[in-house]
Amino acid sequence: DWNSGNVIADQVAKIRAQVGSGRVLCALSGGVDSAVAAALVHEAVGDQLVCVFVDHGLLRAGEREQVERDYVAATGVRLVTVDAVDRFLDALAGVSDPETKRKIIGREFIRVFEQAQAELIAEFAAEGDPIRFLVQGTLYPDVVESGGGSGTANIKSHHNVGGLPEDLQFELVEPLRTLFKDEVRAIGRELGLPEVIVGRQPFPGPGLGIRIVGEVTRERLDLLREADAIVRAELTAAGLDGEIWQCPVVLLADVRSVGVMGDGRTYGHPIVLRPVSSEDAMTADWIRLPYDLLARISNRITNEVAGVNRVVLDVTSKPPGTIEWE
Ligand code: XMP
Repeated sequence: DWNSGNVIADQVAKIRAQVGSGRVLCALSGGVDSAVAAALVHEAVGDQLVCVFVDHGLLRAGEREQVERDYVAATGVRLVTVDAVDRFLDALAGVSDPETKRKIIGREFIRVFEQAQAELIAEFAAEGDPIRFLVQGTLYPDVVESGGGSGTANIKSHHNVGGLPEDLQFELVEPLRTLFKDEVRAIGRELGLPEVIVGRQPFPGPGLGIRIVGEVTRERLDLLREADAIVRAELTAAGLDGEIWQCPVVLLADVRSVGVMGDGRTYGHPIVLRPVSSEDAMTADWIRLPYDLLARISNRITNEVAGVNRVVLDVTSKPPGTIEWE
């Protein structure tokens, strides 16, 4: 029967057999899959592994620190952070169309990762120790899904850290290929990873970039990060994390409405709450959050986040809505 200790021992042996004394590279996204995959590889081959984390400026509050500080403290992995915030924001300037944003973010991610990789390759090649392996956090359901090849319409172009170019001359190391998400979480806990990473709800690769309806700017990202942090803190305090699949917080940057604060008129943006329950993200239902919790979230956001004067609740299931707004 299934036991996370056995799976770890098994995977560690397999990884050692596959990579020998070779160098291994892994892109961390801040999510659970890449974090657990990298931790397994580190368990197996220690400092033969180098991790790269790209800060694209579309992360939520605290996420970079969770990787740079907490994850590194828990695992001891060698981490290179690439600060690519300016580059992503420059590339996204003036762009409002959702698919164009997704393509730009995916493209820039690949470029930044390739550049970091080239630098690391050069560094290790100089030491006579080239990088030959690339870790991917592919799960069993991903393996099954991509094997299907059914002609489903492309609704959104998904961008994942895993979606790297095909011409990479690496051999893949995929220690999660036989596992489901809850098994990956169990292994992560067994390996002592921080709960903020292991228990994290799904978060899209393009990050907050697809939760700003309209152009993505630094100011809007800051504003959305504040609102999102309030929502996450309140949902956690209410003990609802286990019931919620995820709760996108969306800034309608292209919409403004009139409000009043003190003696003054305001003309601010709405924030949308999108709490959903789901089994697999293919379908979802909106969660009937308690009214007093909604009231608290609304009060806090409108009081604490400058530029937001209205909070609205998305009561659309999937279908016909998607979970994300873009
Ligand atoms: P939708 O909006 O299509 O989202 O109902 C379904 C699930 O997928 C997540 N999502 C993404 N995840 N890269 C990802 O890794 C992406 O580009 C992406 N777009 C959406 C979304 O958060 C939800 O869990």
